[in-house]
Order: sequence, then C-alpha cells, then structure tokens
Amino acid sequence: MKTLGIDIGGSALKGAPVDTTTGKLLAERFRIETSAEQKPAEMAKAVAAMAKHFAWTGPIGLGFPGVVESSTIWTSANLHKKFIGCDGATLFGEATGCPIAMINDAAAAGIAEMHFGAGRGFTGKALLLTLGTGVGSCLAYQGVVVPLELGHFPWGKHGKSAEKYVAASVREQKDLSWKEWGGRLHEYVEVLEKLLWPELIIIGGGVSADHAKFFKFVKPRAKLVPAEFFNNAGIVGAALWAAEKK
Ligand code: BGC
Repeated sequence: MKTLGIDIGGSALKGAPVDTTTGKLLAERFRIETSAEQKPAEMAKAVAAMAKHFAWTGPIGLGFPGVVESSTIWTSANLHKKFIGCDGATLFGEATGCPIAMINDAAAAGIAEMHFGAGRGFTGKALLLTLGTGVGSCLAYQGVVVPLELGHFPWGKHGKSAEKYVAASVREQKDLSWKEWGGRLHEYVEVLEKLLWPELIIIGGGVSADHAKFFKFVKPRAKLVPAEFFNNAGIVGAALWAAEKK
C-alpha cells in the first residue's frame, strides 16, 4: 500500500509517498519552508501544496508537533497557538480533499523505527526521543507505541519545560559545545531512566546524524542507539499510521 507521509515541523513541512510494506520512500522527499508564526489556514495551504506536488489523491498521514487525540490538536508548544482545539482531519482534509490520519510527530517516528528501523524486532521497553526544535518522546512495548510529552518535564529551579534546555535547537541557539549539550542530555536521560526504565533508547531528529559527536557524553544504563531513519522517521511513521487507519 502507498500513503503520503507528512511531518509538520517548526521550520518546514516534509513529505513523501511511502511504500508502507517496506517503509521505503517512493519519491524524493519534498520540503516546504514554514514558520512558527504560520496560522492553521496557512499551514493547510502548505499541506495542500505538498499533496499537489505529488499529485496525491489517497490517504495522508500527518505528524504534528503537539498532543493529538484522535484528530484534535491539544497543544502547540512550538507552532501557532491557534492550532489548539483544531480538528486536523477537517482542517487538512478540506484543504487537500484527501482522508487524513493525524498523529503526534514523535509517535510517528516511533512507529517507523519500531517497524523498520532501530527498534525492529525489539519487543522490550524502548524509549524514543526526537531532538529538534523541541523534544518529542514515545515509549514502545511489545511493539505498541505510546505517545508521551517528556519534553515538557519540569526542569531546573523554575520548572521550565526540559526541551528549553535539551532540544537540539538550544544547542544551536546557545552555541553549546557537543560536550556541554551532551552533558545536559545525559542529566535528562538519567532522570527519564529512573522513571521509565527503558531497555533501549533511540535518539532521533536531524541531530541523530551527528550521534558520534555526543553519544560519548550520554551514558545511560539502557542501550543507546541512533534512529535509523534519521530525519525521515516522522514521514515514514505518519504514512504507516495512515495505512493502519484505513
Ligand atoms: C511537543 C511534542 C512534540 C515535540 C517534538 C514538543 O514541544 O509538545 O508533542 O512531539 O515537541 O516536536
């Protein structure tokens, strides 16, 4: 089966048609620049442009960087606040004329990695963290993926969201060395291990391509591995989600 997977992010919309039996992209992925100020109607236009680029008329899986219940978006930490309360299936369905399956972006990445990537065949407890503009998270156990919001774990003396301290975007903004940032990640992972006791930790997001530069500073009890899909996990997982929902 073929579905179109789209990953909505803080700086870009990325998408590609995916063969959901193999997890392979069927065309070169397409990218549309977006900004965090974009309101839902403008984002819907960008999603429609993505579908048009691939002359797409079938099911679309859409990963969104916030809490998604069924197809309702409940949080939008790094995108426009007007998304809160929006029904994604209606918003993006009307814009594209296609059936839409909504999912949290990190849960989508988790589905891709557990099916075809770093977690394939692993049935124990795996924690996936995506490090990008924010921090996405999910747990998988016996192959079942559960979306989490560990990026908003209260951190530091003012209890700010942990992602304000440990996201990949923070390393760039604050110009932190790999060692400094890796040290932050170590502290964060140490706390998550106390709460969740994963056996495997998969690190995704664009920065996972640079894992050799910071994995040496992160020393969890669990086995630590980079995501295999790197930045395409969100696209592939959203596409798999859409196929499952059919
Ligand atoms: C959102 C999560 C999302 C993560 C990565 C967080 O700010 O609350 O839902 O998975 O960013 O995009």
